[in-house]
Amino acid sequence: MHPLRAQEREAERYRGATLAEFYRSTRARTMQLVEPLSAEDCQVQSMPDVSPTKWHLAHTTWFFETFILEAVLPDFTPFHRRYRVLFNSYYNAVGEQHARPQRGLLSRPPLDEIFRYRAHVDALMEELIASRDDEEIARLVEIGIHHEEQHQELLLMDIKHVLAMNPLRPAYRDDLLQVRHESLPIEWQHSDERIVEIGHEGKDFCYDNEKPRHRSLIPQHSIANRCVSSGEYLEFINDDGYARHEFWLSEGWDWVQTESIEAPMYWKRQSKRWVETTLGGSRPVDASAPVVHVSYFEADAYARWAGDRLPTEQEWEAAASAATTRAVNDLQSDVLHPHAPRDGGGMQQMMGDVWEWTQSSYAPYPGYRTPDGAIGEYNGKFMCNQYVLRGGSCITPRGHVRSSYRNFFPTHSRWMFSGFRLARDLV
Ligand SMILES: [Fe+2]
Repeated sequence: MHPLRAQEREAERYRGATLAEFYRSTRARTMQLVEPLSAEDCQVQSMPDVSPTKWHLAHTTWFFETFILEAVLPDFTPFHRRYRVLFNSYYNAVGEQHARPQRGLLSRPPLDEIFRYRAHVDALMEELIASRDDEEIARLVEIGIHHEEQHQELLLMDIKHVLAMNPLRPAYRDDLLQVRHESLPIEWQHSDERIVEIGHEGKDFCYDNEKPRHRSLIPQHSIANRCVSSGEYLEFINDDGYARHEFWLSEGWDWVQTESIEAPMYWKRQSKRWVETTLGGSRPVDASAPVVHVSYFEADAYARWAGDRLPTEQEWEAAASAATTRAVNDLQSDVLHPHAPRDGGGMQQMMGDVWEWTQSSYAPYPGYRTPDGAIGEYNGKFMCNQYVLRGGSCITPRGHVRSSYRNFFPTHSRWMFSGFRLARDLV
């Protein structure tokens, strides 16, 4: 192929950049996200689900070191031989792992050493990318970059929890813009019963769980053109929604009672008003903005209370694929909190703002096969006891998600930026 043509094709594939630029800018963004934090902030693990910022910085580096440098370089020597275990998240094929709930105990290695680890691996990776024109290496680098983008979101949702647990309630950043728009009435988009194509199409990057593309029957239904707002969710709270068992799944009802849940995570009642912790500090709840930090149980209970239901992931994807792209509130918008759409009409917020719970269990698509090797542990082995969320959030890196992208969490999780929209049957 003509060298210029090859370069153009590469730029198309990596969001207008070469693979080397895509690698460098992604790694640099992770470092930018850490700038507002102290070394002490980077150490804390506030609950077993949360990983310390320092661990995210090291683990994303470990991913490149283990799956690429170690596999490809004939004279490979690890930066530190113990890191293989310390920063292995869940890859049994790689070997032993440091226990997840104990990541916060790793006061050593210090943060400075992790920064050196990153610089060391970056130098080797950049040299490798520049010197090897190899499809398989490029594919692994691309996975590593998308993996790092996922951890950028994890880093932010984790540090939000860490800072929210601190009685001083420090903000992650004091300079974040507060965006508020008027709430617009929900419009319902009708869909006839039909067969739709679901799953990733084309040659662009996607995860294995988005394939194979296949046909799926969706029933006649309507789907809301925007997410449920905090103001609407407040009506559910004020109608004793958390105290009425008839809206809750059995496990959800146990969870509400055992954990004394009475509002979305990060909401606190202060005399007559509700305030919420955001990455920009404590703020009054914005009634127009999508409700965020709710579990599957809460989303499902609200839907029952409203007389509706959550969409299936097939209904959601069909609606998202047909929607025209609008301004997306994502990581690069630099608001780091969901807000109401600026103008009405048409499908809103399909991408960005909040991850949207669907009523679909996270399961393999027809014909799915777990990829070979350690990388095969990335997605497939988690297809059990989790539900699918779609569409990305206000802290998802731009370009990371697409209409076929499948995120997944257990039913009680809510520290991620999770919200939902409604669907209704038409029978
Ligand atoms: Fe990871």
